[in-house]
Amino acid sequence: MYRLTVVALIIIFFFGSCTKEESKDVTVFEAGGKTTIYSSGPDAYTFPLANASASTIDAHFKADADFAQQFVSAPALFGGLGPVFNQNACESCHIRNGRSAVPQFNGDMQSGLLLKISMPGHTIQGAPNPVPDFGLQLQTKSIFGTVAEGQIHKSNVSNTFTYPDGETSTLHKPIYQIVQTYKPLPPHVVVSARNAPPVFGMGLLEAISISAMQAVADETDADFNGISGKINWVWDIASASLMRGKFGYKASHTTALQQTAGAFNEDMGLTNSYFDAENAHGQSNAQIGLQTHIDVSDALLESAAFYVRTIAVPAARNTTNQAFVAGKQLFKSLNCNACHKEQWITGPAFIPELSHQKIEPYTDLLLHDMGDDLADNRPEFSASGNEWRTAPLWGIGLTQVVNPKATFLHDGRAHTIEEAILWHGGEAQKSKDDFVRLSKAEREKLLLFLKNL
Ligand code: HEC
Ligand code: HEC
Repeated sequence: MYRLTVVALIIIFFFGSCTKEESKDVTVFEAGGKTTIYSSGPDAYTFPLANASASTIDAHFKADADFAQQFVSAPALFGGLGPVFNQNACESCHIRNGRSAVPQFNGDMQSGLLLKISMPGHTIQGAPNPVPDFGLQLQTKSIFGTVAEGQIHKSNVSNTFTYPDGETSTLHKPIYQIVQTYKPLPPHVVVSARNAPPVFGMGLLEAISISAMQAVADETDADFNGISGKINWVWDIASASLMRGKFGYKASHTTALQQTAGAFNEDMGLTNSYFDAENAHGQSNAQIGLQTHIDVSDALLESAAFYVRTIAVPAARNTTNQAFVAGKQLFKSLNCNACHKEQWITGPAFIPELSHQKIEPYTDLLLHDMGDDLADNRPEFSASGNEWRTAPLWGIGLTQVVNPKATFLHDGRAHTIEEAILWHGGEAQKSKDDFVRLSKAEREKLLLFLKNL
């Protein structure tokens, strides 16, 4: 009897542990896979990858200082700012690595919301056409001795949305205008407002392979579900060829490095090996402070990109709570996951900690027509004026814990997650209509699920 029990225990232990190990490898997906961190406080977006090696951690913390660095105009170690710019540090816009607040009043210089501008049409490579004397972005600040390109004026059109059950929600559509320009803007300028998005998990998104993306893309809606995810093919500066885009609200940057190089140049007025001309180059303004040399070395550029690549994704919370489970089920039955694809397995990555991770970013990284209400009518490469990259939803529930003034959607128009859903149109119209028809109790379960991501 005794011996039998021991044998049985050994068998249970052996096979039991074996199945557990196997099931862990086959099925366990988590926000950022093994890179996931468990934090739900105001610093939740500021940790390095949980599985980081000692050397990765070391490089991450050095890079953190570069991300926080405030650049100056003088020829110093972190010099070269401007002559025109939007903010002087990455972190001034990506608050605690999360989102910016939209302008709280006209003349608010703290906001990380910026205006992309262009003329109708596009360049031979498919990029937006720069506005003569203003370029592709309105720079609202300048260094001493020169003037900013212009300022942002915001007004709102508010409408009450009424659910079939009588509940209401107020939706605000912001209208951004350009005022106080240093010279008159030409007619027909196209304006697109962009609020700074969160920057954690960039390395994991980057490590999703093109073949995996191609397997999900459905440009012609071959499965007739009304949803046609499209890859944005955009110009990659390093390889001088068209490549799949992933970063930015319209997926028009190919790598975290190129996105970072673009930020240094357009947002901060710092030249680098990717963008070697000042953002004010060739304009009838701000020529005095123009530098002919590179402001940001490749080492500094690589370091800032390394930082965003190695910021961990926070874990979802209360995942065994009944309402969470029910909300997740509703997310699927409303077909939200047709665009907000829950799971991916990353491919091989240069930073080994990012390779082969089972992640849950809730995005297909593809472009979707989101309807006229969200449209900016400013195409970027293959992305039309109505199309946006599906926003990743990982960590979204902590948005306002990290920055209480942060809001949702590309231009920050939605004050709550619920409002963000109510703005969905185009390919997402049916999902939104089905959400609206849910009972209040069911809507609350769906929102509880999202707030715990
Ligand atoms: C003036 C505000 C501002 C500054 C300064 C700024 N960013 Fe951004 N950042 C934005 C906005 C707005 C976007 C979205 C751009 C778009 O849609 O094309 C963005 C996008 C990004 C993204 C892509 C996020 C995603 O989900 O695809 C990364 C990565 C990023 N920024 C990193 C940086 C780094 C690194 C720096 C410093 C070198 C920096 N940013 C400086 C406003 C800013
Ligand atoms: C057709 C594709 C599609 C479907 C279906 C869809 N979404 Fe989205 N979703 C998007 C895109 C694209 C954005 C970004 C839009 C923008 O910024 O203007 C977005 C943004 C969001 C945001 C705001 C994200 C942020 O970072 O600010 C939330 C929340 C959201 N979706 C939830 C949902 C829910 C819940 C459903 C189902 C009821 C759903 N979505 C269905 C494509 C989709």
